[in-house]
This record gives sequence, structure tokens and C-alpha cells, in this order.
Amino acid sequence: MRATVVFLLTFLAVTLALDNGLMRTPPMGWLAWERFRCDIDCEDDPQNCISEVLFRDMADRLAEDGWRELGYVYVNIDDCWSSKERDAQGRLQADPKSRFPGGIAKLARYVHDRGLKLGIYGDLGTYTCGGYPGTTLDKIEIDAQTFAEWGVDMLKLDGCYSNSTEQEQGYPLMTKALNATGRPIGYSCSWPAYQGGLPPKVNYTLLGEICNLWRNYGDIQDSWDSVLDIVDWFTEHQDILQPAAGPGRWNDPDMLIIGDYGLSMDQSRSQMALWAIMAAPLFMSNDLRTLNSGARAVLQNKVAIAINQDPLGIQGRRLIKEKSGVDVFWRPLSGGSSALVFFSRRTDMPYRYQTSLKALNYTAGTYKMYDVFLEKPMPVLKDATEFVVSINPTGVVMWYVYPSTKWQEEGEEHNADSPVVL
Ligand SMILES: *[C@@H]1O[C@H](CO)[C@@H](O)[C@H](O)[C@H]1NC(C)=O
Ligand SMILES: *[C@@H]1O[C@H](CO)[C@@H](O)[C@H](O)[C@H]1NC(C)=O
Ligand SMILES: *[C@@H]1O[C@H](CO)[C@@H](O)[C@H](O)[C@H]1NC(C)=O
Ligand SMILES: *[C@@H]1O[C@H](CO)[C@@H](O)[C@H](O)[C@H]1NC(C)=O
Repeated sequence: MRATVVFLLTFLAVTLALDNGLMRTPPMGWLAWERFRCDIDCEDDPQNCISEVLFRDMADRLAEDGWRELGYVYVNIDDCWSSKERDAQGRLQADPKSRFPGGIAKLARYVHDRGLKLGIYGDLGTYTCGGYPGTTLDKIEIDAQTFAEWGVDMLKLDGCYSNSTEQEQGYPLMTKALNATGRPIGYSCSWPAYQGGLPPKVNYTLLGEICNLWRNYGDIQDSWDSVLDIVDWFTEHQDILQPAAGPGRWNDPDMLIIGDYGLSMDQSRSQMALWAIMAAPLFMSNDLRTLNSGARAVLQNKVAIAINQDPLGIQGRRLIKEKSGVDVFWRPLSGGSSALVFFSRRTDMPYRYQTSLKALNYTAGTYKMYDVFLEKPMPVLKDATEFVVSINPTGVVMWYVYPSTKWQEEGEEHNADSPVVL
């Protein structure tokens, strides 16, 4: 029965996704915007301005500090990279002066030489959000062609300075134009974020056919409030959003801000856990040159990444919203495994949450658990066994759960009336 369900889900995913073969699991990498914005002051701030230096530095870090091997392969440019003028042939061009003297094609070669991929930014409309030349409907083909010629691997197409009619025409036209270049280019559409993110204005079936990922909601900022606001919106609308995701087509709650200024360690683990369970793209926007070891450990957590990258590509859901401020999220994974996140919205002290796997709708059986952030196996649990997890304020406990058929071999059975304290 399970095999049939899995087969059907996989089949549906194959038939509905954009047919460019890309991003069968959520894309991972680095994206400039949240951390570096539109800093173009290379004279006074040469290390942080939007320039080829910044992207080469991040490519070096991704390649040399263990990120690439974990799947963080995209180095993505955001707004403010271009010249304010198109060239004589009407093509976009990188700011030639101090910022991208080598041009984007050369930067793409640098990135590719390190086993990474290059992403670029465009905007369907008269201007980009930052006021640079936009891609109007008549410029879609030439811009797709230019990006392909440069060797770009992904395009984020924003939606400032266009109306709903132009977006309805432009986003699918770009799909066609990218395909016509013959170069596989991952396609991130900001379209739904400009239309409120919900039906009837947003058609998620259509998005799945024309985009690999899409921004549903507003930009993330460097604060816990912002993360919480995003998580709330995505869970409130999960009945609409969750079925839209699958291999090759992902909801994008925006960048990881872990390693910046706004999150505590517990909140950093929360963002990582919730993005993993939501099957979200994992684009870090931080300074990889100065990242502290705590943030690095969270972002490089192998089990959290494996959960995010699970090949079934089924987005997780919130199962329970307790009055106490605890939310429980669940995501089915391949091989009969699953992931659980116990998330506390509380702001007082660690909260002892008692439940059982049965109460979380696990079928009868015995289960092995691995605590993702403690990085250690937990006691084996029967479905009916009550247990207690201690969840830090604004923090998570995250488990990778897999069925155990070898109950007796797994050591001590817990038969007492008291719950297992984990
Ligand atoms: C273009 O679309 C066709 C048909 O949908 C697909 O087979 C092909 O792989 C696509 N090519 C690229 C480069 O995306
Ligand atoms: C959208 O903009 C185009 C031209 O920029 C205009 O012709 C059209 O009327 C606008 N549509 C709406 C719905 O505002
Ligand atoms: C949404 O898009 C799909 C695929 O293009 C289409 O078949 C369907 O009719 C659209 N739904 C609505 C409500 O427009
Ligand atoms: C468990 O499943 C039942 C029946 O499908 C459903 O009513 C209930 O809401 C589910 N509970 C959770 C925690 O998902």
C-alpha cells in the first residue's frame, strides 16, 4: 500500500513539474540579498559591496569550507549588479566600472571551475526593485539569451514595476525563453509574492509547470520576528501551499539568515529545522568569510540537510498547534522514515512537552529516533509510549524517525507508567 502511494506521488511530481530536469530536491547555496542588499559603494566598502569580489569570495568559501560537498552549490547574485544602461544591442550588462570589470561570463567560469553554479537576478517590469533596468515583455528573449551565453545556471525573476497582466504573460514567456536557449537554467519566480500568494490570484498548478521555485510571501529581514511571521503565514496556508511542492517545484519562504545578527542559537536551529521540514530552498544570506562556528554547525548539520533534501520531496505540515505555544511539524520521508519538529513559541523557559508517537498519528510499531541537533540516537519508542521533550524558548527539538523491526535487539524496553524523558 505504501509503495503504491509513494509511486503515485512520485508519478504526479514527475508529470507536473517544469520539464527542465533541475532542482529535483530543493536548491541550496548562497544568495546576496538579505545580507548585502544594494551596497554599491565599492570605494568605501570594498569588501561588502555588490561586486565580482564578493561573489568570488563566497565561491571560494563554498568550495573550500565544506559547503559544496553538503549541497550548497549555487552562488547567486541579486539586485544591483547591472549597469544602469543596456548596451548598444539592448542587452543587460554588468556594471563595468569598479564592480564587475571582468563581466558575468568570467565570473561564471570562476564559479564553475570550483564545481559551483552561478545564479543571476532579473526583474519582470520596467525597473528592478533597486531601480536598475528591468525585463519588459519585449526584452524577455534577449535577456534569457544573454544569461545563457554568460553561462548562468539559475535566474531569480523579481516582479517590481509590472502589473498583474504583464506578470501573467511574462513569467510563462520567460519559461519558454529559457528553454529555447538550450541551457538548463533553474527558474525562481517572485510572481506569487506580488499577487498575495493565494488563490484565486495565484495558480499553484501553473507555477509548478513553469517555475522550479517561487517566492510566495514578503522578503525576510534579519530578525526573529520576520522568521516567525514567515513561518506563521506558511503554516496558516499550508493546505494550499503544501500540495504545490514536489520534485522540481518548491515553495520558497526566502533566505536563511543564520549567521547574521538577528537570531540566537536556538532561533537559528529553529529556522534550519522549519526550512528543512518545509522542503524549502536553502539559500544562505550571510558572510561566509566571518561565520561563527555555531552558525556553521547549524547550517552544516548533515541530518537536517538530508531531511530537507529527501528525494520524495513531500513538504511537511504542522500537525498540532497547542495552546501552550508548542507546534508540532511532521514530514514524511523516503524509506518509511519521517521527521518531527517540536517548536516552542514560548518566551519564558524550556517547556516540557508530553506526547506519544500515537498521538502524532504514527501507526502501531516501534521507532528509532535520532535527535538532529544533539546529534545522537534517542531511546527506541513504541507508538503508545508517552515521552517528554524539553523545548527551549523560540527553539526546537528535531527528530529523524525511522521504524524499527528489531525491537528486542534495541536494548531496554520502557514499560513503566511514567513517560520517557528525552
Ligand atoms: C525544454 O523543454 C523540453 C520539453 O518540455 C524538455 O524536454 C527540455 O529538456 C527542455 N530544455 C531545457 C534546456 O530546459
Ligand atoms: C498593465 O500595463 C500595461 C502597459 O504597461 C497596460 O497597457 C495595461 O493596461 C496595464 N494593465 C493593468 C491591469 O493595469
Ligand atoms: C491553473 O493552471 C492550470 C495549468 O495551467 C490550468 O489547467 C487550470 O485551469 C488553472 N486553474 C485556474 C483556476 O485557472
Ligand atoms: C490523526 O488522524 C486523524 C484521522 O485522520 C485526524 O482526525 C487527526 O486530526 C490526526 N491528528 C493529527 C495530530 O494529525
